[in-house]
Amino acid sequence: MKITDSPLPSSIAIVAETGVIPQATAHYRKRLSDLRGLFLDPAALEQRIRDENDPVCYENYAFNNGKTEGDIFFGTTIIYPGKVGLEYHLTRGHYHRKRDHAETYQALSGRGLVLFEREDGTTCTAELVPGKVTYIPPFWAHRSVNTGKVPLVFLWTCPVEAGHDYEALRGRGMRQVVVERDGCPCIENRP
Ligand SMILES: [Fe+2]
Repeated sequence: MKITDSPLPSSIAIVAETGVIPQATAHYRKRLSDLRGLFLDPAALEQRIRDENDPVCYENYAFNNGKTEGDIFFGTTIIYPGKVGLEYHLTRGHYHRKRDHAETYQALSGRGLVLFEREDGTTCTAELVPGKVTYIPPFWAHRSVNTGKVPLVFLWTCPVEAGHDYEALRGRGMRQVVVERDGCPCIENRP
């Protein structure tokens, strides 16, 4: 990028309670019907789609100044509270298409977890809570889970060229799941 092509510095408003970015350059919603195949209990999923008129599970706002390598872009994800069977609401989860590209998450409101796994089978989890930054190192797939009773709103910041690879996890999901046991979130291996 040449100096003259560089975007001007700016401050972009984010509504911490809702995650709305009024100047967003992209926005999408995922309803429960968009997440078939991801939850442990497909019958519970279909029942909620029928009974609740296919509610929104999460949405995403992005602010992207350009597509130039070396730049970053950022946005918010809002995961609404709820469970499918015993399993808390979650995002699809992805690897970065460029596996060696990292990312950070920072919770603005609500609370949750990030599930991680690598292609060598290693798994781990990290908190996603206000006051902490969750570092997503290169090579780790990541999925976010709302374990609270209010919307989980977090800010993500990522290199523009990182890309998303959803296909690698499609059909088998991630190796770990977060379910409610005795009223508390519990991380378990997928049965
Ligand atoms: Fe990512």
